Order: sequence, then C-alpha cells, then structure tokens
Amino acid sequence: MIVAGDSRVRPPTVVGKKSTAPPPPKRVVFARLLLKESSFLGRRMTSLRISLNQSSILSMHNPLQQLSYMPRVVKSRYSKSKRISACLNVAVEEEARVPSVSTGDEKSKEVMGWEAKVLVGTYARAPIVLESGCGCKLYDVAGKEYLDMSSGIAVNSLGHGDPDWVRAVMEQASKLTHVSNVCYSLPQVELATRLVEGSFANRVFFCNSGTEANEAAIKFSRKFQRHSHPDEKHPATEFISFTNSFHGRTMGALALTSKEHYRIPFEPVMPGVTFVEYGNIEATRKAISGGKTAAVFVEPLQGEGGIYSATKEFLQFLRSACDEAGALLVFDEVQCGLGRTGHLWAHEAYSVFPDIMTLAKPLAGGLPIGAVLVTEKVASAISPGDHGSTFAGSPLVCHAALAVLEKISNPSFLASVAKKGSYFKQTLIQKLGGNPHVKEVRGSGLILGIELDVPASPLVDACRNKGLLILTAGKGDVVRLVPPLIISEQELDLAVDILFDALPALEEASSK
Ligand SMILES: Cc1ncc(COP(=O)(O)O)c(C=O)c1O
Repeated sequence: MIVAGDSRVRPPTVVGKKSTAPPPPKRVVFARLLLKESSFLGRRMTSLRISLNQSSILSMHNPLQQLSYMPRVVKSRYSKSKRISACLNVAVEEEARVPSVSTGDEKSKEVMGWEAKVLVGTYARAPIVLESGCGCKLYDVAGKEYLDMSSGIAVNSLGHGDPDWVRAVMEQASKLTHVSNVCYSLPQVELATRLVEGSFANRVFFCNSGTEANEAAIKFSRKFQRHSHPDEKHPATEFISFTNSFHGRTMGALALTSKEHYRIPFEPVMPGVTFVEYGNIEATRKAISGGKTAAVFVEPLQGEGGIYSATKEFLQFLRSACDEAGALLVFDEVQCGLGRTGHLWAHEAYSVFPDIMTLAKPLAGGLPIGAVLVTEKVASAISPGDHGSTFAGSPLVCHAALAVLEKISNPSFLASVAKKGSYFKQTLIQKLGGNPHVKEVRGSGLILGIELDVPASPLVDACRNKGLLILTAGKGDVVRLVPPLIISEQELDLAVDILFDALPALEEASSK
C-alpha cells in the first residue's frame, strides 16, 4: 500500500512556493493517505499517518483535526480493511497534492473562527494554524514554511521531529505510557539519576510544567523551614522575588511573578512575597530576613521579563545572604536551563549553586514535564504525602526526556550552542545595531533579546509574514529569540536577514 522507507517523502509543501525543507529523517517518514468513507470509533477520517519504517499506523486525522493515537495492533485491522480506496503517492511533488475542499487560507480562517467559539480566550494567538514541523521549520495548513525562532517558547530545543526523540517516544509508548506514582518505574529513576549526576542536586521531584515545579519549590521551602526549626511556633514562610521575574500562573508561582497585569485580577494570591529590583544587592540585603524569609527565587537569566542576565556578583551575594539568613536559594531555570545559554545549567556560568533548581520547558522535547532538583538537606525535610502528582514522571515522558538530556548534555553540543549564540549575537549587532529603534542586543547562547524603543509587535507580524516566527518579552518592547538549539548558522543568517528586511515595519507603525 505504501513504499516503506522512501526517503523522498516530504512534509506537506507550499502552495505556489517551492519548499526548501529537507526530507524528513529516513527512520520516521510519514505519508498521508486519502481515505474515502473510512471510520474509526464512529468518526469519519480523512487521513492516516504512517511510520514507513515499521509500516504501522500511528494516528488518524478526522475532519475536526482531532488526533486519535492508534496502537500498533490496529495495523492489521486497517491494512486488511478494504476501506482505503485511494492513496496519495508518497513521493509527492508540488503538483501531486491532496485535493482539498478549501484552500489553506480558508482552512486557517475556519480553524480560527471555530477556536474562538470553543476555547476559553486566554491566548492572543498569532493568526497562523500550524500543522507540521521538521528541524527548525514549521508548516501551516496552507503549506507556508516558517523558520522557527520561538521553539514553542523555548521548548523544542531539538527542533521538530528529532529522530532519536521520536524513536524514544514510539518505543516507550508501545511498551508502557503511564503508571501512577503508587508504583516504581524505571525511566523515572533513570532520568532522576541523569539529572543528579549532571548537577549540584542529590534528588529530584517530577511534575508536569514550570509553574508546578515552582509550586513544589515553594512547598519544599516552607517544609524545609518547619522541619529545620521544629520548636519554632512561626517558622519562616516568606519569599523574595525580583522585578521582571516570571515564575508561572498558579497561585503560588503567580505570587512570585512580578508583572502586576498577571497577578492583580486574581488577588489575593499567596501572601508574604517581597519584590526587589533584579540585581540590586543593597535592596536585597535589606529585604532578606533571618526567621522570616523561607527562600529567594531568582532566574539566573530572565526570559519572559526581557532577557536580563544576572551578574556574578549578584548571584554570589544571594548565595551568601541566604546562607546567613537560613533561607533557601531557588534558581528558576525553566526557560534558561538545559543548554540554552551554552551551559547545561545557566548558573554554571557563575559558579554559584542553589539549594533548589526548577526545570521544565525543553526537558522532554515537547511533552509536558517539570522537575525540581534539590540538595539532600532540602530532600530530608520532605516526607511521603507532602506533595505528589498523578501524571508526573510517567515512563513515556521520562524516556523522551532521557533522549533529550543525552543529546543536550553532550559537551560538543553545548559548545556548538555557545558558538552559534555568539555568532548570532554579533551578526544581529552588525546588521540591526544601526537602526535607530534598536537600543540593545543582549542575552547569551541561544536566548537573545533585542530591546527596541517602540513596541515589538509590528516587527513580529512583519517577520511572520516573511516566514520567520519570533516572540516578544519584557513590556512588549523586546524581541525574544529562542531558536531550536540544533539551528544552523545558515538558518541564523536567514533569521537576521528577515529581521533586517522587516525593520521598516517599526517605522511604519510609529508614524501612524
Ligand atoms: C522562568 C519561568 N518559570 C516558570 C515558567 C512557567 O512555566 P509553565 O508555563 O510551564 O508553567 C516560565 C514560562 O514561561 C518561565 O519562563
């Protein structure tokens, strides 16, 4: 029915535009079959995704774009069925496309209008409907190609469809996806071991997101204080956080997040948080108080807040002030950790080590995960029942994370991130630095920010129209660039060229 292992198979391509996408990895080549009058669990299906190397059906798309994962056992049922009455040649060229009822643009509009009716309006989304990805490229439903400099907000560090990651997910999904934390499972223990071996920490707690990791760190800090001062009627429960910080959107993490716009509509949030100017040693000295401050939360490099790096002096001061006050030092490396700065952990650049570090975004290559890394001193305060999660540390997610960690922690991979990062920064400074709206290019490794003297959104829109996906940060006046860490220098050059070409959009917007 299909040509197994055909490396000429391509992802959906662009209408009226030649795709420059390389063929997807041989091991995981997908093809789409046009189905006529087929159904699965009562739903009409329009296409199948097939892994050619294993000839197994992975998933089906129904007209509502809902994905139903198909275990391998379904293969025989479907491949023997006579329901497939037409199929698309997998070695598809521009001309040989699946005839579709609506054009890509119409389809995008349809999906956007439909979304507006059925989803809670928490997101101001970019007007594109993404459908597939390969490496650093993304494709929308119209087949338009984008160079991805956003990585799903610093998540897809290995890009889209990394073959080793895909293999890890497929292997584990067909073996065991989820067991509760009532039982043991090997991938969770293996991942914790790798994290401990590669960091300051002695133990790990798994959860499902960045905000959950910080929530756990808040609870661990309070429990640590209670445990260390058993005779104290009121052990330390308060926290210090910093201006421009972002720690998440659940009630505890939100209380530590500086942006009032996120916090105020939901007050009262967790009480007892003091915000201090990021980097201000004197103000922090005054705010930290022995017996009151349970922990200090800080991002060694602030992402969401506008790409601000801490100084070594500031982090060294925080370490000694926390030790003096008996407070814990928590590094939130949800965005800046795991290779993004060219170091495995952003704090390695400063040689200052925390008591707790929170991780999430890139750790499982796009699957939801959070992790709290702690020293033995902190872990000894935590008992069974103090915290937990149904989904956390599942075999599937941990096995995927092992594949990510294996690649990112390789010293030559980290060195390549540092090298590409400094090349990218220099190129941005050279090409964009002369523009009167560009105030500063900052950051390290592959987490860079371009601060403007005007809102960045017109530039973001113009770049997207030209096929480049970028993000904003700070007060909306910073362009945030967090590409997949596997990006090539040629792709970085292309990003700089598109940014340069799109700069007039800033002038046009400010003259309106
Ligand atoms: C530094 C930092 N901490 C925490 C979070 C929250 O992570 P999540 O969105 O996974 O809850 C983010 C998200 O952007 C972040 O950048």
